[in-house]
Amino acid sequence: VQVQAQVQRTVLLAAPRSFCAGVERAIEVVERTLAGADRPVYVRKQIVHNRHVVADLETRGAVFVEELDEVPDGATVVFSAHGVAPQVRADASARGLRVVDATCPLVTKVHAEARRFAGRGDTVVLVGHAGHEEVDGTLGEAPDRMVLVESAADVAALRVDDPGRVSYLTQTTLAVDEVGEVVDALRDRFPALRGPGSDDICYATTNRQEAVAAVARDADLVLVVGSANSSNSVRLVELARRLGTPAHLIDDASELDPAWLAGARVIGLSAGASAPPRLVEEVIAALREHGPLTVRERRVAAEHQQFALPSTVRP
Ligand code: F3S
Repeated sequence: VQVQAQVQRTVLLAAPRSFCAGVERAIEVVERTLAGADRPVYVRKQIVHNRHVVADLETRGAVFVEELDEVPDGATVVFSAHGVAPQVRADASARGLRVVDATCPLVTKVHAEARRFAGRGDTVVLVGHAGHEEVDGTLGEAPDRMVLVESAADVAALRVDDPGRVSYLTQTTLAVDEVGEVVDALRDRFPALRGPGSDDICYATTNRQEAVAAVARDADLVLVVGSANSSNSVRLVELARRLGTPAHLIDDASELDPAWLAGARVIGLSAGASAPPRLVEEVIAALREHGPLTVRERRVAAEHQQFALPSTVRP
């Protein structure tokens, strides 16, 4: 009998990973609304950008729609964690909809900055990704005074009314290193540039990037659990690759490709802020099927952030 020695592998589990406080709150908002009297419960857009979270809430009765015109008059609608433009709120109120707002408080903060900066007459440059729901919502705060840039190259092409009155904001889920370059380019062009008091990239995004970098440096392969439309998850994959480690985004264990494991002794594992912890456990279980596994967690930061629920769903 020929026994083939199985490869002993190590999983370096990045910490923090998986759910952030804003995602936990948004999911709880939908759960509590479902438990209330006002059924059916409509949710405008994916509550958070994760296929599994959405599918799970769907089986429990939530009805996901893209726009308010799919919601019947007078019904209950939840706004997603990514926030909405003021026009959406106005439309909901005109339609007599009962609104439950699951916008992450850290996104709400960026909206407030957008109003403040635009209100003082600045051109407000938002650094972010075109078409992302958070970006659409934030730009909606002052559509005539705001412009979007995605990269340092975009900065060169910017036209503003008064170069002395320019401020910037960022999407909450960008790569910390990439935003630095864009802000540097903005400051080069507009030396009087003003920004938010502290960075708009949220604590959860920052911590997950630091953690994935810490494991990527020592790993042969990095796996990130998250959905393809999750901005912060995609940033984790890109960051690992920038550090020279092959990396893949997977929605769940079923997307694990055994070919990736060839030659990989150390596997870095993380999950985006919208990906449930259970999916990470399932990936570890799937990896075990390919040979003996040692799992070690590498923590770069402790997280204690919690957000109060909106008053509409508080017990
Ligand atoms: Fe909020 Fe950051 Fe999570 S903006 S939803 S805490 S990724």
